[in-house]
Amino acid sequence: MPKLLSEAQVKQYRSDGFVCPVDALSTEEAGEFLARMEDLESREPNVWARSKIKPHLLMMWLNDLMRNSKILDAVEDLLGPDVMAWATGHFDKKPHDPSFVSWHQDGTYWGLSEPSVVTAWVALTPSNRKNGCMRVIPGSHHQGQLPHRDTIDKNNLLSRGQDVEVKVDESEAVDLELQPGQISLHHTMLIHGSKPNLSDTRRLGITIRYVAAHVSQISGFKDSATLVRGTDAYRNFVAEPRPRRDFDPDAVDFYEAIVAESRRRKDAIAAQTKQDRLQSTTML
Ligand code: NI
Repeated sequence: MPKLLSEAQVKQYRSDGFVCPVDALSTEEAGEFLARMEDLESREPNVWARSKIKPHLLMMWLNDLMRNSKILDAVEDLLGPDVMAWATGHFDKKPHDPSFVSWHQDGTYWGLSEPSVVTAWVALTPSNRKNGCMRVIPGSHHQGQLPHRDTIDKNNLLSRGQDVEVKVDESEAVDLELQPGQISLHHTMLIHGSKPNLSDTRRLGITIRYVAAHVSQISGFKDSATLVRGTDAYRNFVAEPRPRRDFDPDAVDFYEAIVAESRRRKDAIAAQTKQDRLQSTTML
């Protein structure tokens, strides 16, 4: 018996690559998390710029959110009993914000050993067609990893503007509309994106990337994660400290080491790509 999802929802996740909506937090709980986030933003205006990778290491409210038992019940229904929170992020569109997200698969640059990875997209405000909710192509995760190209557009919320290099039939897209406190869950290979916010209100979603404990980082990067359910018999990730306050100095030290490690990994990948290009040119 699943803990939170219905049997039909688990089946839908396997066949379509997503489930939406799932009632996780109450409206009040979602409001409390939003208020805690806005309070931190008002005290630390550069809070998101300072914590681009794994902001849950630095922000108490986000670390609490990723441990929410209802969200974890739903994730456990899909990943099994041993679950690590691996990454978090925010997808924020202010009123009339031209920001969008190009069609992509999440796992493209993550370097994880297998796709036992679920993203919980947690709505802290309403997310709907008018304000640029997430859109998905049902069943697209069955295609496996597809090639992507990097694009440059200042309004693209993705770090590399990655865009999947296959023709996406927009008529197949499904809008994942959510009320505050509701979540959607999607597979790491599912093609998805979103449009700009055409409304007068902020649209804010928090992403939490959960992996099954047996998943590992295979790109030569010493990666970290937080055990949030069950046990970690594999020790594939460095255990993350739980911050005792926002921007806890111990957590900041840990965070900076992770950022430096991540930068080394990106440089190594860039050097390898350059070398591959050089080799293919020499072979011509
Ligand atoms: Ni994504």
